[in-house]
Amino acid sequence: MIETLDLWKSYNGTDAVKALNLRIEEGRSFGLVGPNGAGKTTTIRMLAGLLQPTSGVVRIDGVDIFANPKTVMPKIGYLPDEYGMYDGLRVFEFLDYYAGLYGVRKGERQERVERLLSLVRLGNWAGKFVGELSRGMKQRLMIAKTLVHNPEVLFLDEPTSGLDPRSRAEVVEVLQHLASINKTMVVASNILYDLSSFCDSLGVMDRGVLVDTGTLDELSDKYCREKVLRITVVSGMNRIEEVLSQDKGVRSFSVEGDSVTLCYDGTVEDVANLNEKLVRAGVRLTGLCQERRTIEEIFLRATS
Ligand SMILES: Nc1ncnc2c1ncn2[C@@H]1O[C@H](COP(=O)(O)OP(=O)(O)OP(=O)(O)O)[C@@H](O)[C@H]1O
Ligand SMILES: [Mg+2]
Repeated sequence: MIETLDLWKSYNGTDAVKALNLRIEEGRSFGLVGPNGAGKTTTIRMLAGLLQPTSGVVRIDGVDIFANPKTVMPKIGYLPDEYGMYDGLRVFEFLDYYAGLYGVRKGERQERVERLLSLVRLGNWAGKFVGELSRGMKQRLMIAKTLVHNPEVLFLDEPTSGLDPRSRAEVVEVLQHLASINKTMVVASNILYDLSSFCDSLGVMDRGVLVDTGTLDELSDKYCREKVLRITVVSGMNRIEEVLSQDKGVRSFSVEGDSVTLCYDGTVEDVANLNEKLVRAGVRLTGLCQERRTIEEIFLRATS
């Protein structure tokens, strides 16, 4: 659905994006992660047809976007990293206005706007002014706006930046939903954790270069074999210590209430085996997950 061939962007002789070759299948979500200045926004803007590359090709659904913008642009939804909004419009009017701009017929607009507002959980806010919304709500409204013409492909630039943890989680929930209904998406962020729950694969960008791509598990095995894991236990806590002390990947562990935090050196496959061993020993778990700091560690190591 999305393909780039040797995509390159220079600003006054300085390369912001170098030789980018990407291929994203229909229905997949791709997370583009990297530090400030890595070239994420430059990439997203070229993919969305808004910034002319210095050289290279972008194809959406097989069609060259810069050669055939009129065919391709209607298929694209783009959420910029920064934007202004019409604070004096009501939430419903705001979306209705954009639906009109994108040529959605009047008879279809009301149903579509209502559906989108419910998708981003702003159904109860339809009559409020945009200026009354919190930042997180505005961000969800902007996501609804990028969906208003029912695009096939979404390019979202830093959808969670500048939001508090709860607002971030609410935006991530909307993105998880879009991924679950198989929207093709490219989402840029410098918070790997936010992308980890819904992206099928991740690309790590650093100083204009896509340094690596893979699933979270693949990147985790490559950059961060030593993980911090948290296990939450319902029963069988007395048996857990024995299993952990016999597993060669366990470096250390500590027990607090019904949860065990452990430092573990091994692949994702090893973690799955440990899970099996615990269950076989009669430990009943409600969760076994990598701690957030492990996920961010991948980011730090891959871009160092
Ligand atoms: N219009 C421009 N003119 C000149 N240089 C630019 C321009 N836009 C971006 N750059 C440079 O290109 C490089 C990549 O910037 P870009 O905004 O794509 O990075 P980013 O990964 O999106 O960073 P951030 O996480 O801060 O959003 C940076 O060095 C930046 O200074
Ligand atoms: Mg950016």
